[in-house]
Amino acid sequence: MRGGEAWARLLAQPGPVLALAPMQDVTDWAFWNLVHQYGGADVYYTEFFRVTPDSRLDREILRSITHNPTGRPVIAQLIGNDIPAMVRTAKELQNHPIVAIDLNLGCPAPVVFKKCAGGGLLREPERVHAILGALRDAIEIPFTVKTRIGFDDPQHFDKILEIFARHPIDLLAVHGRTVADRYRPGVRYDLIRTAAEAMSCPVLANGDVTSPAGALEIWKDTATRGLMIGRGAVRNPWLFQQIRQAFAGETPTLPPGREVLRYIESLFDTVTDPDYTELERVHRVKKHLNFLGTGIDAEGLFLHQMRRTTSRAELSRVAADFLDHDQPVALEPVAALEAART
Ligand SMILES: Cc1cc2nc3c(=O)[nH]c(=O)nc-3n(C[C@H](O)[C@H](O)[C@H](O)COP(=O)(O)O)c2cc1C
Repeated sequence: MRGGEAWARLLAQPGPVLALAPMQDVTDWAFWNLVHQYGGADVYYTEFFRVTPDSRLDREILRSITHNPTGRPVIAQLIGNDIPAMVRTAKELQNHPIVAIDLNLGCPAPVVFKKCAGGGLLREPERVHAILGALRDAIEIPFTVKTRIGFDDPQHFDKILEIFARHPIDLLAVHGRTVADRYRPGVRYDLIRTAAEAMSCPVLANGDVTSPAGALEIWKDTATRGLMIGRGAVRNPWLFQQIRQAFAGETPTLPPGREVLRYIESLFDTVTDPDYTELERVHRVKKHLNFLGTGIDAEGLFLHQMRRTTSRAELSRVAADFLDHDQPVALEPVAALEAART
């Protein structure tokens, strides 16, 4: 298998393997660059490359591979269902510096699943079987899958796992919700464990990893090789390092309010494009602050005020009102604020 050494090194490290989850329009090159400065993940998934009969590789997503700012291994994710196009895209991608190619079987966006791609494929196990077979044959580097636990009913998860087990995939990331669940509370860690026990490849647990103590608990409860973290890393870019500290038996370092304030300013400077208008840049950074905001105050006042800002100065003032202090901030999400978002 090509590129197998980097893959073997990734999986041989002690403790949970920590992956940054793919998040379309959020975990782009700029965010990778920023999160890496806070310690970063062990492996980075790209946003999905959308694959259709006439698709070409998205240049912006490709940049996170060709100009990877983290120096850590990258997994390129595909979404689609057209087998010849998926094979063509996978072959093209494996000429770039990636350690693996991933198939998205979880996207809950109606525009995607109605076309029977992403999470929509979980309704058609035989089609999943055909896609996995074709991709496994075509891909010479490690091949991974990211799935949810079903389309609208987790009862069929066993059948989905049976199909995965028929193909020698190299890693499975399981988001413990169905597609119909979207992001509702109640991740089925028990079913992630079922996957870890059923599969012969390593499994990553995904869904609501939000604190260092919670991360280790989920890791142990699911008996997985590691954890995949999305929204938690946008809310708290220190989280990967905090988990490593917790695993080493140290007390995780919580950032003081002013450090969080600096993170918000850095977000503005890195994830927004200076060529855009100030209002467009404010809108862009709000995408990330919507995740951060559920971890600032229990009443949701930060979220409320932040969403109404229209300039960088206003945004900075609101952030300073909540965070211009030296007290440690845990950045754990308030359940009621999270639930209101789903
Ligand atoms: C805004 C957003 C974009 C996402 N984009 C993708 C994607 O491109 N590919 C994918 O497999 N999952 C995507 N997901 C799902 C995440 O990778 C992850 O499975 C989910 O957020 C649960 O993990 P978390 O609780 O750590 O965020 C996205 C999620 C969000 C909130």
